[in-house]
Amino acid sequence: MKGIILAGGSGSRLSPSTDSINKHLLAVYDKPMIYYPLSVLMLGGMKDIMIISTPEDKPRFEALLGDGSSLGITLTYSEQKDPNGIPEALTLSEDFVGDDDVTLILGDNIFYGQGFTTLLRNAIKHHKYATIFGYRVKDPRRFGVVEFDHRQKAITLEEKPNDPRSDFAVTGLYIYDNQAVKLAKKLKPSARGELEITDLNRAYLKRGQLDVELLGRGFAWMDAGTHESLFDAAEFVKITQQRQGFKLACLEEIAYYLGYISREALYNKGKSMEKNDYGTYLLEIADRKHTQQYWDSIDRNPMLGLVE
Ligand code: TTP
Repeated sequence: MKGIILAGGSGSRLSPSTDSINKHLLAVYDKPMIYYPLSVLMLGGMKDIMIISTPEDKPRFEALLGDGSSLGITLTYSEQKDPNGIPEALTLSEDFVGDDDVTLILGDNIFYGQGFTTLLRNAIKHHKYATIFGYRVKDPRRFGVVEFDHRQKAITLEEKPNDPRSDFAVTGLYIYDNQAVKLAKKLKPSARGELEITDLNRAYLKRGQLDVELLGRGFAWMDAGTHESLFDAAEFVKITQQRQGFKLACLEEIAYYLGYISREALYNKGKSMEKNDYGTYLLEIADRKHTQQYWDSIDRNPMLGLVE
């Protein structure tokens, strides 16, 4: 399973903040936005991940995350010249995906909740064709909406419907089999001139190959694409972190938990940034007295909820 993060787009709703910087490099409280979707793919078990951004911003992502070796993963980068729509990610990454399946996540989406890692890993393990994630929202008219039957097979998919058939929005996390690239290539631009992810999902739906995984009320799903939602997301991260003392989407911590990097590497990274809270946190984890006990109980750990 390969992973793709889509971090292009125009970010026009966040202008002027995004006039000279890519949206996904803006901070969501104490770390860049892209850390959040990257943490999701890492927790989902992906080690081979491509970040797609604009030609101007690609070097900035490379400067931030490098080749991924400091996290024990492999990161590659690709360019999307114009914001032609989300499915273009798949056609741009054809060589990268090769014969694999692929999990695609939008760079401005934040997922959090107990058991999320287990849910995602199970969805990846058991997916046959395509799996999308549904999340109940108060105003479904603003989203792609999925209606599904008792077996969680999708029945209808509608983009920003006036009269939604369900309260479940389609989140920006998609698991696809290897057909996705071929199907994405066949899509035609919509009236607004973009390739639409809903159309790709509809292609799976038509074949009876679209499964829906539900994220219950214990999960938080946010996108940080407007000033309001970016602020809300930052506030959510701040409050959750301050209360529990765990950071959300701390990539080095996840890499350490997953056994990708050593305690020494974690410590050194913390030391290199010990003047800020992120660095102190890494040092704290590396120094944790009960670390072994902590790791031994990882499959029961409510934060990561890892079950292989
Ligand atoms: P959107 O929020 O729909 O678009 P945008 O990021 O360009 O922002 P705005 O509407 O304010 O102009 O995109 C959802 C996510 O997908 C976001 O993380 C950016 C990414 N994206 C791309 O990388 N390429 C694209 O062509 C599109 C449409 C989106």
